[in-house]
Amino acid sequence: MQYEVEPLFAEPIFRADLSHAITPAQVIYIKNLAMAQNQTNLISEDRYIFEREELASIKTAVEEALEVYRSEVMGIEQRLYVTQSWSLINQPRVGMHGHSHSNSIVSGSLYYCDLPQPSSPMVFDRHREYRMLEINPSAGKRNIFNTNMNAIVPKTGELLLFASGLQHYVEANTATQPRYSIAFNAFIRGKIGDYRDVSELTLQ
Ligand SMILES: [Fe+2]
Repeated sequence: MQYEVEPLFAEPIFRADLSHAITPAQVIYIKNLAMAQNQTNLISEDRYIFEREELASIKTAVEEALEVYRSEVMGIEQRLYVTQSWSLINQPRVGMHGHSHSNSIVSGSLYYCDLPQPSSPMVFDRHREYRMLEINPSAGKRNIFNTNMNAIVPKTGELLLFASGLQHYVEANTATQPRYSIAFNAFIRGKIGDYRDVSELTLQ
């Protein structure tokens, strides 16, 4: 029997190197931000760090990447802009619980300085809802169509962009050094819906 299996839909993860936009002084500046305890890791007290002038070049590079994501990945006319932005530290043995980002369309992570080795992956979950039936592929039979998870090992200087509704977690940091990153949410500005269908909505 001859057969073909074609993908109907796919979930994107956008990866770009932004190391050109990050200076050593900015790395020190971000590492020294006042931090608060998150569930197990640390999160900056300031949850709008991209509003700081010292981080302007990083914000601009993120905005440029969001612009590419908007036009080339989403293919939409509206504009994407960063809402909240914060820094994170995962100390050795600390990961990040599974979560998704509410009130956001696109979220991102930026690995702004040297990652510890081995670098713990970010793991994305295919399922966004309660699963009454869990029917999982056998070991060795996992593929893009049936896998429940996909892990991304970030690189130093790398930006990841993904749909905010995607569940994700970070595996525990198995290195002896802390794992630093920045995260942010983005939303759209502009008109969505349709005037004649009375579904129109203008997002300022
Ligand atoms: Fe997240």
